[in-house]
Amino acid sequence: MKKNNVLEVEIRKNINCSKDVALWNYWDHEHLDVVHDGYKESDILYDNNNFMFRVDNIKIPFPFIKLQTPIFMVQHDENTLYVYAIQIGIISKTTITIKSLTASSCEITMNYKFYLNGWRKILKPFLKIMIPKWNEKVWLEDLPIKIRRQKVLNMNFKDFKGLPEKINEREEIKDENYSFKLPIPRPINSSRDRHPLALKFRDKIK
Ligand SMILES: [Fe+2]
Repeated sequence: MKKNNVLEVEIRKNINCSKDVALWNYWDHEHLDVVHDGYKESDILYDNNNFMFRVDNIKIPFPFIKLQTPIFMVQHDENTLYVYAIQIGIISKTTITIKSLTASSCEITMNYKFYLNGWRKILKPFLKIMIPKWNEKVWLEDLPIKIRRQKVLNMNFKDFKGLPEKINEREEIKDENYSFKLPIPRPINSSRDRHPLALKFRDKIK
């Protein structure tokens, strides 16, 4: 278990949404296969207050091949999120740290560590180039969701209720009116809960 087998890449970005909206985006699993090009299927097997175990089917740039990736996520404290995953036998640890700047802006630090022992070492130069590219792609796919959520929250939007009916109740409010709380409720027919081994398994209701 050598430390020099670890490839580390860190990316820091500022965004015009609150810290809670940024955290919500990481824990909103409904959007994965809709918004992210690479995600074909995501099954949550178990989730609870501050953690989740999920299996993703990810598309790679070879026709007809999908990778199955187990992923464990934990909200370690109010600013820190850890994501452990295994892709083609490579263990990775992602640390997401979110610092609130104003009521509607924050700074997100994304630290990636890949454990490249044995044959996996040959992937180091490739991953060094690919991780920032993959990060940028995912960042751009998530960006409009976070900005839009901040915008509708400012107009008094409530989850599973929507916007207020009266236009004058949609006036922009300056104070933060949303606080992030886990677990994020999923729709009753969520396609995240369709794996037969999932704790919250539900057959599709027709
Ligand atoms: Fe996303």
